[in-house]
Amino acid sequence: MLDAFGTDNPGDYIGGFPDHPHRGFETVTYMLQGRMRHRDSAGNQGLLVPGGVQWMTAGRGVIHSEMPEQQDGAMEGFQLWLNLPARDKMCAPWYRDIAPEAIPEWRGGGVTARVIAGATQGVAGAMQRAATEPLYLDLHLDAGAGFAQPLPAWHNAFVYVYRGALSIGDTAVPRQRMAILANEAGRDGIALRAGPEGARAILVAGQPLGEPIAQYGPFVMNTNDEIFQAVADFRAGKLA
Ligand code: CO
Repeated sequence: MLDAFGTDNPGDYIGGFPDHPHRGFETVTYMLQGRMRHRDSAGNQGLLVPGGVQWMTAGRGVIHSEMPEQQDGAMEGFQLWLNLPARDKMCAPWYRDIAPEAIPEWRGGGVTARVIAGATQGVAGAMQRAATEPLYLDLHLDAGAGFAQPLPAWHNAFVYVYRGALSIGDTAVPRQRMAILANEAGRDGIALRAGPEGARAILVAGQPLGEPIAQYGPFVMNTNDEIFQAVADFRAGKLA
């Protein structure tokens, strides 16, 4: 699940996201513009700044808040929900703030790729995850520049364009649109090309878990019983 947020109206973001729980998955928050303060029930806190990432493993449970640390200006970024395999859903919560300068970059042919997770062109990203093998690239393409990325055919993958426009093969993908890539045999990579205004886009791919998904609000589990348990545990104060 991807939430793309973006506004320059403080009235849209000033309320932030006060204390709320999560269980059973990971949130990956990537800021493009604006500053967001994170605090959680494990005592962690951090400030998300433009170009930075917060990688949080909710595991068995965390209660956290995500609040803007600005009164005006633009707030823009992404929050990706990355599933955990059944065996890890009740693991200890964990989180890491990744500063903008700690995200490796690859440059070539009019393209800058910020490598948040996985690897591209021989550059290993800031994060590696064993079960879901996520690839998370922020691609900045000059006008007409092309970029190719091999992908395992069975991986799920999408491209979300947030500036300009690009094409994937013969398919045009305009701004604020997501292209969901096929993951059938023989689909072993992607080649994209920016339009005349250039483009910025995120490319996200990962290993499907092949497990049932039961999702309710901020909980992502495998069965409805596990969702009821998460709600009961939250009400009993056991997620803090
Ligand atoms: Co949250």
